[in-house]
Amino acid sequence: MSAAKFPISTENLVKRYDKYNEIGPISITLERKGIFGFLGPNGAGKTTTIRIILGLVRPNEGSVRIFGEDPFKNPVKALYKIGYAPELPSFQTFFSGEDVMNFTAKLYGINQSDKRRRVKELIEMVGLSDHVRKKVGKYSKGMVQRLSVAQALINDPELLILDEPTLGMDPAATIHFRDLFKTLSSEGKTILISSHQLDEVQRVATHIGMINRGRMVFQGTTASILEAFSKDFSIKIELEKINDDILDKIKKLSYVKEVKISTNGIQVILNEKKDLRADLADDIIKSGGRLKTLSLHNATLEDAFIETLRKENK
Ligand SMILES: Nc1ncnc2c1ncn2[C@@H]1O[C@H](COP(=O)(O)OP(=O)(O)O)[C@@H](O)[C@H]1O
Ligand SMILES: [Mg+2]
Repeated sequence: MSAAKFPISTENLVKRYDKYNEIGPISITLERKGIFGFLGPNGAGKTTTIRIILGLVRPNEGSVRIFGEDPFKNPVKALYKIGYAPELPSFQTFFSGEDVMNFTAKLYGINQSDKRRRVKELIEMVGLSDHVRKKVGKYSKGMVQRLSVAQALINDPELLILDEPTLGMDPAATIHFRDLFKTLSSEGKTILISSHQLDEVQRVATHIGMINRGRMVFQGTTASILEAFSKDFSIKIELEKINDDILDKIKKLSYVKEVKISTNGIQVILNEKKDLRADLADDIIKSGGRLKTLSLHNATLEDAFIETLRKENK
């Protein structure tokens, strides 16, 4: 596939601010319609990388292409397909949300009749309809974030770059935005979301890039990363009564490696990477156990991240 087909493609980007702050090399390629979760703790280098991609910070090494265009050589061509919501959006405090949207529509040359419809639609999409006439200076942090995402969507961009978009949002808003990102992606947009909230991004991202202290620690499809790190397959169970007899019987099952008891139940670690929930349920009942719940324990990105850091620090 030619580079022009990829919404974002970077090759060995390196940015050196000073001897303590070197970011890279970072090579990422985003597939069309994918949701790329760009993850890492505070100070890892996410915002710097995003700013390089947008042509705002010049890298010391490496190259960037946006739909095949170089944002440093050909900024307008590369960037007109992008919508961007920065990490710390700021708007003129005495404008209303509606003013901000109308002004942005004007900047993009959207004509009067399309403008009204588009602004209304986007304000609804981000859940700001009740506050559209309120001055931005009176907005909460989460409301400013919502407005910033609406603004990023005004030109119906093919590529949406969102730097920590759900920072400061309440749980209901976070869920609303998770669904919104999925909808936008299913409509054909490619999305890059940076975040330090691993569990949140794990729920939406099709692809993950995890960065730590300027270095990419792993990247790939979310499914492949979780698969690689789920070294132990385990099943969590709750029994009506726990006694040595039933625990012994479970431990002796041919496919069971280990049984761990914790405050929130019993973890049965398996010998095989197989979903043996049905077999385990059968065997527990046969052994006289009274099973209340049984669920597969899935690896999380947090497990993957901690595991990677542990290996690196050895
Ligand atoms: N303009 C700058 N000058 C010097 N150092 C910077 C500058 N911008 C960012 N840094 C440093 O680069 C590192 C990465 O920062 P940043 O890209 O903002 O990380 P993140 O977005 O992952 O929190 C941090 O250590 C930060 O202090
Ligand atoms: Mg940042």
